[in-house]
Amino acid sequence: MLTQRTLLAASHRSGLRRLVTGTTTTRRVVDRFVAGESLADVLEVVRTLTGQGMSVTLDHLGEEVTDRTEARRSRDAYLTALDGLAPLKLGCRAEVSVKLSAFGQGLANGGHDLALGLVRPVVAAAATQGTTVTLDMEDSRTVDSTLAVLGELREQYPGTGAVLQAMLRRTEEDAALLAGPASRVRLVKGAYRETPAAAFQDRAGINAAYARCMEILMAGKGYPMVGTHDPRLIERARQLAIETGRSADSWEFQMLYGIRPQEQQRLVSAGCHVRAYVPYGVDWYSYFMRRLAERPANLRFFLRSLATKS
Ligand code: FDA
Repeated sequence: MLTQRTLLAASHRSGLRRLVTGTTTTRRVVDRFVAGESLADVLEVVRTLTGQGMSVTLDHLGEEVTDRTEARRSRDAYLTALDGLAPLKLGCRAEVSVKLSAFGQGLANGGHDLALGLVRPVVAAAATQGTTVTLDMEDSRTVDSTLAVLGELREQYPGTGAVLQAMLRRTEEDAALLAGPASRVRLVKGAYRETPAAAFQDRAGINAAYARCMEILMAGKGYPMVGTHDPRLIERARQLAIETGRSADSWEFQMLYGIRPQEQQRLVSAGCHVRAYVPYGVDWYSYFMRRLAERPANLRFFLRSLATKS
């Protein structure tokens, strides 16, 4: 738990960022979780995964921009990504996930409106390709703003996806509010450091909260996107789909690129819809640190690879 907290705190430290990203050996470990730095790299991965029967959601890495120019760059990167996806004609089998902090949400004086204004053209471009955008969820201070942006976007683009983090104490209520017709909701455990007042801290509490929220979403009228690699919760989702009479195309599993890939394939073979969350781009540091924080074995692997090289 201490290591996890330290790594999550480190994900915001620029000195450490320089140290980690400046080491070429880091690359080998990063490659496990990140599909490459360029659009060409990620499109190659998209071809492979969709050829294996999966769907994908692309994440152009970057978050917490510090000025409006960077925020506009995020918008442009996503528009370019959608242009790149268009010839593949995958429709809703290839969508994109965005972090509103990359669109300026956190900037003082109008960050919320800036993010809404910059993400709207991305959602519009996705819609013209018959696909959707999902708004990733960041730390708990951003939830109200992100759900407000979601509400605005859904007025015109009802397929816009939400993410809810089971670890947050508020999430059962949010899940009930978002379980309405056609509402696409990805449920995840939550990857950010939160206070005990805002979030369950222990594994058992988070897992139980996940199961309760999943029950709400699966029993609802929306489109649940079960974002976990946890074997017990995966099994529970399949059970719930049977109990609630859901057809295979009325919900899906989502997993991160590079994590439990065999399980992803096993579920595809079993007739489940599975979407891989595929990050790409040069700004991979914070994403990578969160993946290290989730699993001590990843940290050991990373440290070993550094030691082997030096
Ligand atoms: P848990 O952490 O208990 O892991 C269960 C098992 O999965 C582990 O035992 C291990 O086998 C494997 N595993 C999990 N993480 C691993 C890792 N990093 N490396 C290797 N193996 C690993 N969070 C957030 O706050 N906002 C968001 O928008 C999103 N978006 C998102 C999209 C998708 C598609 C997924 C799957 C996840 C997210 N997350 C997220 C991250 C999420 O909150 C959570 O941190 C991770 O999914 C890990 O939690 P699990 O549910 O997999 O369980």
